[in-house]
Amino acid sequence: MEARIVCMFFEMNTTNLLFDKMPPKRLEIGKYGLVVSFVILLTCNRIGFVVSHEYANEVHTPQVQRTSYHFQPLKNWMNDPNGPMFYKGIYHFFYQHNPNGAVFNSKMVWAHSISYDLINWVHLNHALEPTDPFDINGCWSGSVSFLPENKPRILYTGIDSSSQQVQNLAIPANYSDPFLEKWRKFSQNPIIAPPDGLERNRFRDPTTAWQGPDGEWRVAIGGQTSYGGAAMLYRSEDFVRWHQFRFPLYSSQDSGTWECPDFYPVMLNGTNGIGFSSGFGVGVKYVMKASFNSSDHYTLGSYVPEKEKFTSDYGPGFDFKGINLGLRYDYGKFYASKTFYDSSQKRRILWGWVNESDSRQDDINKGWSGLQAIPRKIWLSKTGRQLIQWPVKEIKMLRRNHFSLHHKELRGRSTMEVLGGSASQVDVEVSFELPYLEEAESVDTRWGVLDPQVLCSKRDASVNGRVGPFGLLVLASNDLSEHTAIYFHILKAHNRYVVLMCSDQSRSSFRKEVDKTAHGAFVDIDPCYKKISLRTLVDHSIVESFGGKGKTCITSRVYPTLAVNNNARLYAFNNGTQTVVISSLKAWNMSNAEIK
Ligand SMILES: *[C@@H]1O[C@H](CO)[C@@H](O)[C@H](O)[C@H]1NC(C)=O
Ligand SMILES: *[C@@H]1O[C@H](CO)[C@@H](O)[C@H](O)[C@H]1NC(C)=O
Ligand SMILES: *[C@@H]1O[C@H](CO)[C@@H](O)[C@H](O)[C@H]1NC(C)=O
Ligand SMILES: *[C@@H]1O[C@H](CO)[C@@H](O)[C@H](O)[C@H]1NC(C)=O
Ligand SMILES: *[C@@H]1O[C@H](CO)[C@@H](O)[C@H](O)[C@H]1NC(C)=O
Ligand SMILES: *[C@@H]1O[C@H](CO)[C@@H](O)[C@H](O)[C@H]1NC(C)=O
Repeated sequence: MEARIVCMFFEMNTTNLLFDKMPPKRLEIGKYGLVVSFVILLTCNRIGFVVSHEYANEVHTPQVQRTSYHFQPLKNWMNDPNGPMFYKGIYHFFYQHNPNGAVFNSKMVWAHSISYDLINWVHLNHALEPTDPFDINGCWSGSVSFLPENKPRILYTGIDSSSQQVQNLAIPANYSDPFLEKWRKFSQNPIIAPPDGLERNRFRDPTTAWQGPDGEWRVAIGGQTSYGGAAMLYRSEDFVRWHQFRFPLYSSQDSGTWECPDFYPVMLNGTNGIGFSSGFGVGVKYVMKASFNSSDHYTLGSYVPEKEKFTSDYGPGFDFKGINLGLRYDYGKFYASKTFYDSSQKRRILWGWVNESDSRQDDINKGWSGLQAIPRKIWLSKTGRQLIQWPVKEIKMLRRNHFSLHHKELRGRSTMEVLGGSASQVDVEVSFELPYLEEAESVDTRWGVLDPQVLCSKRDASVNGRVGPFGLLVLASNDLSEHTAIYFHILKAHNRYVVLMCSDQSRSSFRKEVDKTAHGAFVDIDPCYKKISLRTLVDHSIVESFGGKGKTCITSRVYPTLAVNNNARLYAFNNGTQTVVISSLKAWNMSNAEIK
């Protein structure tokens, strides 16, 4: 017999997610002397694009997979975001780049791009290249910190001449230059060598540094101790001489090497961001993020700088194991992320690397590999239990051709086209009502711990349920033989409703060799409100989805062969037996960003 589920109402997150429009400022590229190379590359690109479009249905040509409004270098490999910052009116973005090929190579450079709006970008010369004994085998990831008087410093990992990972300092050559085109490496590098007892090739990715109430600087560095993955803590009075603290800032057993740790405060109320300089303790929580096992894990907690102690809200011993290994920024492809505080708009912004899911040989054929997700504003949920993420408001400047519909019933087992052809670049926001919530089916608890990823694999979009699966089919071909399904499925488990969110790539491409693993997660909302929202950004080969107003994010990489360019369509679908209602749906096709 099924237990009856009683809906109890509580304060809902009413955060206003509709931001004001900001007029874009244009970068005058002429100033940078990059015009000539840009024209040539763009022309080549265009040719590739036209050719691949014409033959899309017959042979696979890779350029149809290239994105139009996500950050990418013109060619070759990109991975981690590095040192994002706002300086003198300009956003700076650095990233790990192999300028010589589309595959990973240890001799990374810090490539450098600038923007007024986080959407349109101009690539500058590399900020850091392997040149000295302390980084001759690679300039790996790191962060920017601001010293007093708005003086940025880069702390980065160098792979030195004996292949050890050491930490180095770089300083702007000219503070008056808002583009910060030239960086000087500090003469006494390296400033931090791997400590004893640590593997010398697992000591990397310094965080943005922060100053304690005692005025001393702190920085955390990823690595692996005999105990497990850790964020090692260092302190300094002058930002040059650093001393290891006896305990890591945080660590976790068995998680493997921690990469790209990130540590920052979030406000307890409101969506504004905050920097460390605003003080400690009152009105804030702290986020400890670590990248391991191909995903970005975080936990919320408290931090006492006097004791150098971060304590997870899950308890002092929480070590990213157990229920879902804690929280993740994104349950799809999203790794090595980094946040920065944007002082101009009092917000914290998250950048994350989105890997390919095709093969190394595909990357070589395409001539490129790796994207950055659209930068996301990030803040603490009103529940205090998790973070919320939402694409920066500037992305709206790319929206064209508004399409909308309201109060439309989506009956059981039906599919409805919402945007004809040319849905390869879209931003869609949809809100569903669930009038028959009580009909939701119970999940078989014999599956033990409810693992959403397993649930999404077992209940893909083609499995008929009751309240769900319902959602969107993006990058869909005319006959629906190719599509990526992003959907919800409401289930009853342990006497309550759970909202499952999935991204099903199983029919995303006729290509065999690409990874089509389903991604899934729960959405921490109470479906008793009978409403649930989904926003999805589609850009040729990337699908970024935000469920429950940014509570659960899933990014997928897909490589359709039919649903490309003008042949890509967008549908809403319901494969449950119960009717759901689209209370509102807005879709825009997106114009290209200028990234050159
Ligand atoms: C520093 O940058 C400013 C602003 O771009 C420029 O006017 C000045 O000539 C630069 N100084 C040097 C020494 O390059
Ligand atoms: C946060 O809470 C404090 C104290 O309750 C209040 O003074 C402040 O205005 C709130 N800030 C926001 C952004 O809601
Ligand atoms: C790594 O991730 C996989 C897939 O999500 C999971 O099954 C596995 O338990 C994880 N391992 C560790 C050590 O976190
Ligand atoms: C990147 O993608 C490739 C291919 O799917 C995979 O083998 C690799 O583990 C991924 N790397 C990360 C860090 O996710
Ligand atoms: C945008 O959408 C409209 C209406 O669906 C379509 O006619 C047009 O071709 C699309 N434009 C682009 C650039 O995709
Ligand atoms: C919906 O269910 C039907 C019947 O099982 C199936 O043929 C169809 O492919 C499903 N739709 C999706 C989007 O999976």
